[in-house]
Amino acid sequence: KNVSPTILLIFGATGDLAKRKLFPAFYNLFLEGRMPKQFQIIALGRRDNDSEKFRDYIKDNLNEFSRNKVDSDEVWEKFSQQVTYFKHQLDEEESYKDLEKELKNIDEKFGVRANRLFYFSIAPSFISTVSEYIKKTELAPNADQDRIIIEKPFGHDKASAIELNELLTKTFKEEQIYRIDHYLGKETVQNIFTFRFGNSIFEPLWNHNFIEKVEITVAEEVGVEERGAFYEKTGALKDMIQNHLLQILCMVAMENPNSFEAKEIRDKKVDVLRAIRRIKPEDVSKYAVRGQYKEGEIRGKEVVAYREEKDVDKESNIETFAAIEYYLDNERWQNVPFYLRTGKRMKEKQSYVSILFKSIPSNNFPGTENMLANRLIINIQPTMDIRLQFMTKKPGLSMVLKPGEMVFDYNDCSSADSPEAYETLLLDALLGDPTLFMRSDQVEEAWDVVASIQDVWENETAPDFPNYVAGSLGPEASDLLQTKQGYKWLPNT
Ligand code: BG6
Repeated sequence: KNVSPTILLIFGATGDLAKRKLFPAFYNLFLEGRMPKQFQIIALGRRDNDSEKFRDYIKDNLNEFSRNKVDSDEVWEKFSQQVTYFKHQLDEEESYKDLEKELKNIDEKFGVRANRLFYFSIAPSFISTVSEYIKKTELAPNADQDRIIIEKPFGHDKASAIELNELLTKTFKEEQIYRIDHYLGKETVQNIFTFRFGNSIFEPLWNHNFIEKVEITVAEEVGVEERGAFYEKTGALKDMIQNHLLQILCMVAMENPNSFEAKEIRDKKVDVLRAIRRIKPEDVSKYAVRGQYKEGEIRGKEVVAYREEKDVDKESNIETFAAIEYYLDNERWQNVPFYLRTGKRMKEKQSYVSILFKSIPSNNFPGTENMLANRLIINIQPTMDIRLQFMTKKPGLSMVLKPGEMVFDYNDCSSADSPEAYETLLLDALLGDPTLFMRSDQVEEAWDVVASIQDVWENETAPDFPNYVAGSLGPEASDLLQTKQGYKWLPNT
C-alpha cells in the first residue's frame, strides 16, 4: 500500500524516546522503502539548533540505537535531507503560527496538501497546551489526513484518562488519535493473534475445558535507571500491568473476531477487559502482591536497592514488582486463573506467556510419576519462540515416559531482522490503520481493571518493603499466590 505524502512533526524531538526509538524507526522504514515517497520530518525543540547539527546528532544516535547503522553516505544524505530542526515553544501561540507557515511551504513544495502526523513525545502536563494550540491555529483540521500519536502514561487513573480523552476530543476526532502501547507492535505479540486464529488445531482447546491456567510474565533486569522521578509517581502496576500486560492478556483471551477491521478487533479486546472480574478492595491482598527490590546482584554485578536509586525517596512505598491473579467472568474462561507478574531487577529479562493445559484424567502409565500436563509457551522477548510440551515414550524396551517438545524458533524462519515495535506501529499510523492502537474505551477500561488495587496500594503503606532481592524472581508472597491454589510459577522453557 502506498503511503500518502506526510509531514511528521515530533514534539519533544530532542528527548530520549526520539533518539532511541522514533528516529531509528523512521530510518529503518526508509531503508525498507516503507516511508512515503514524499515526506518531511520536522523535529521540534525549544533550544537553538540548526538542521545540520541536529542531523549529525541523529546520525550518532542511529549508530548507537538502530538495528541498521548508517553505512552509506548516499542513503544517509537522502534520508537526512528530509529531516529539519524547527525551534518551537510549546506554550507560545506564535510558534504554532510559524509552524503553520512552514507546513504550507512544504505542501507547496510537495504540490499536494500532505498528511500531518503529530507525535506527542512530551510530558503529560503539556498535552493539553499543545492540543489546544493545534486547535486554535488549525494545524490538524482534516480528520482523514491529520493524526496524533500519543505515548503512555495515558492518565494516571480512570478519571484522569477520561478527562484526557475529553480534552483531546475537543481538538481531534477519536479516529485521529493513536494511543501507543508499544507491546502491541512486537512481532511475537502480534503472532499470538495469528497463532490462535490462523490455525484450526489450537482454538478448539482454547477455553476452560482444556486450559488449567494462564501466566503472563514480563520480567526485566534493569532497575529504574534515570527515571526515578517518573517512577516514584508510577510503579509497576501503572507502568506495566495497566497497559502492556493487560494488552497481552487481551490477545490471549479475546474471542474470534468476525473481521480484521480495527473496530471489530478493538471491540473484542474491550470485551475481555470488561469480563475481568474486579477485585474487591478487601480482597486485594488475597489476589495481588506488590514488591520492591533490595540491593543484590545481577549477572555478577552488584546493584543498589530501589530506595537508593537517584531521585527516589528513602522510604518509598512504590512497587517495582506486581503479581495479580485475575478471573474472567465469561463462558470461555470461567474459573481459569490468569496470573500476571512483572518486575524490575529480576533474575533475567524474560517475557512470556505460559498456557498450562489440564492434566490427563488418570495416569495409568506404570512407573511414571512425573506426568507433566501439556504446556504451550509463547516467548515474547528476548527469546522469541513458541514451545509445545507433551509426553512421549522414551525409546527402549520398557514403557517409560519422558517430556518432549516442539519448538517454533523465530530465528529459523527469517534471515532478516524482525522490525522493532515502533517501526510496525509508526508505519500503521502513516497508513492510517489504528488496529494496534488503543481506543479511548480500552484505556479507560484497563484503568478500571486495576483501580481497586491502585487505591489500596497508594493508600496503605507496604509493611514489608523492600521485600525482594535484586536478581531474584520477586517476593515470596508472589509464589504464595500460586501455591495456595496448588500451582507454581512455571519457567519459560
Ligand atoms: C515501558 C515502561 O513502557 O516499557 C518501562 O515505562 C519498561 O519501565 C519498558 O522498561 C519495557 O519495554 P520493553 O520493550 O523493553 O520490554
